[in-house]
Amino acid sequence: MDIRKVVIPVAGWGTRSLPATKNIPKEMLPVFRKPVVQYVVEEAIGAGLNDVVLITNQNKTIIEDHFDHNLLLENLLERSGKTELLKEVRRVAEMVNIIAVRQKQQLGLGHAVLCAKEVCKDEPFAVMVGDDLMFGLGCGIEQLIEAAGAENMAVVGVIEVPEDKVSKYGIVQGEEFAPGMYRVRDLVEKPAVDKAPSRLAIVGRYVLLPEIFDHLERQEPGVGGEIQLTDALKGLASSNKLLAVKLRGQRFDAGDWVEYLTANIYFALQDEELRYDLVKRLRELVPC
Ligand code: G1P
Repeated sequence: MDIRKVVIPVAGWGTRSLPATKNIPKEMLPVFRKPVVQYVVEEAIGAGLNDVVLITNQNKTIIEDHFDHNLLLENLLERSGKTELLKEVRRVAEMVNIIAVRQKQQLGLGHAVLCAKEVCKDEPFAVMVGDDLMFGLGCGIEQLIEAAGAENMAVVGVIEVPEDKVSKYGIVQGEEFAPGMYRVRDLVEKPAVDKAPSRLAIVGRYVLLPEIFDHLERQEPGVGGEIQLTDALKGLASSNKLLAVKLRGQRFDAGDWVEYLTANIYFALQDEELRYDLVKRLRELVPC
């Protein structure tokens, strides 16, 4: 399956991260040295996706700017001989092609994906939700692209979550036909604990075929009055056209403060220059 485009919806308000996100898009909050969205884009590049369709709004243009040249800054770095920084800033500007599509009303994740219809047309495409950070070699969206190609089908990424967390996610009911691979029979968006069919939660990684747009166009609002992608996927599940793949690797939910802060420490600990001082300082704060 030839997949080149990744749709990244970034038009949400990020209320979970207020007041930090009052005037900064949540996707631009830094995790260690880079904004959250750059990790998502780098995961996409690692899977061979170089065309990024940002589903955006009028307050989010700095996300597009991040993946473009800033000539004033580049000139300044050049003049002051900061060649390593200059190289890095230019690398980010050139890493992907950005296609920005305005989501003029925030009507839900399903609606955001539907906004990509004219760009994706009849191609299969990936969807990555900017809050979910996934790490590990060959993990995340790459795993889904492999499964979608092998089975010629749409795929959602799932992880197992504790019972008290099921109501935060779309939950999948499926039959495991190979280790970590499920044929999806049904899905429920944010079920109550006693209504959840399993503990397999959808994380923000999907590979979809263009037929999803027909389902989304017909989709009525669901949980929270929003057009839910999960509800549109039910149509695929009922005709046996949807797989779920258990994702390997490390995952952080950047919209949750504990997870966000842990992600910062996780990356900082991998930096040889910082690790020693950071651990020393953390031990002073939390003696054990
Ligand atoms: C969205 C999806 C949900 C999924 C979640 C993963 O929910 O609707 O099915 O489990 O992303 O992050 P949101 O977190 O946008 O409410």
